[in-house]
Amino acid sequence: MKFEYTISNLDFSTAGEASSNIKKVLKLLGIDSKIIRRASIAIYEAEINIAIHSYGGKIILYVQENSIKIIALDKGPGINNIDLAMKEGFSTATHEIREMGFGAGMGLPNIKKCSDEFSITSESGKYTRLEIAINI
Ligand SMILES: Nc1ncnc2c1ncn2[C@@H]1O[C@H](COP(=O)(O)OP(=O)(O)OP(=O)(O)O)[C@@H](O)[C@H]1O
Ligand SMILES: [Mg+2]
Repeated sequence: MKFEYTISNLDFSTAGEASSNIKKVLKLLGIDSKIIRRASIAIYEAEINIAIHSYGGKIILYVQENSIKIIALDKGPGINNIDLAMKEGFSTATHEIREMGFGAGMGLPNIKKCSDEFSITSESGKYTRLEIAINI
């Protein structure tokens, strides 16, 4: 099964909708609540990252027999230094974004903790693609 959600840049009125929607879908499918919690955290962080740090993008969810696969793909500007971006506490969030409660630099490390498989690829000026899997 495949589900797709569009995420707009800096649209905080709808930010978080994809993850709450996916949570409902996974519940309806009878997925274990611990798995749903990990998936929701990862998807929420990926969704907010697209809203805050990118020009917009999408989240694609695949529910397979043995795993949940999540792809978060955006239209750039990309991540120059992925190792640095993965460090706990590293953030390029602006003052305004921090005042809204984001920018602790914990999103990507948290996504990794919630995942059984994790990869990010990015091309400067073009895209960032995050792909994770959680075993069911
Ligand atoms: N989709 C993205 N496009 C471009 N840069 C990104 C993207 N996602 C993350 N980054 C970069 O990686 C950094 C670390 O991301 P991370 O999610 O860990 O922290 P944060 O979003 O800054 O803060 P928090 O997630 O704790 O609110 C970001 O500050 C940003 O520079
Ligand atoms: Mg983040």
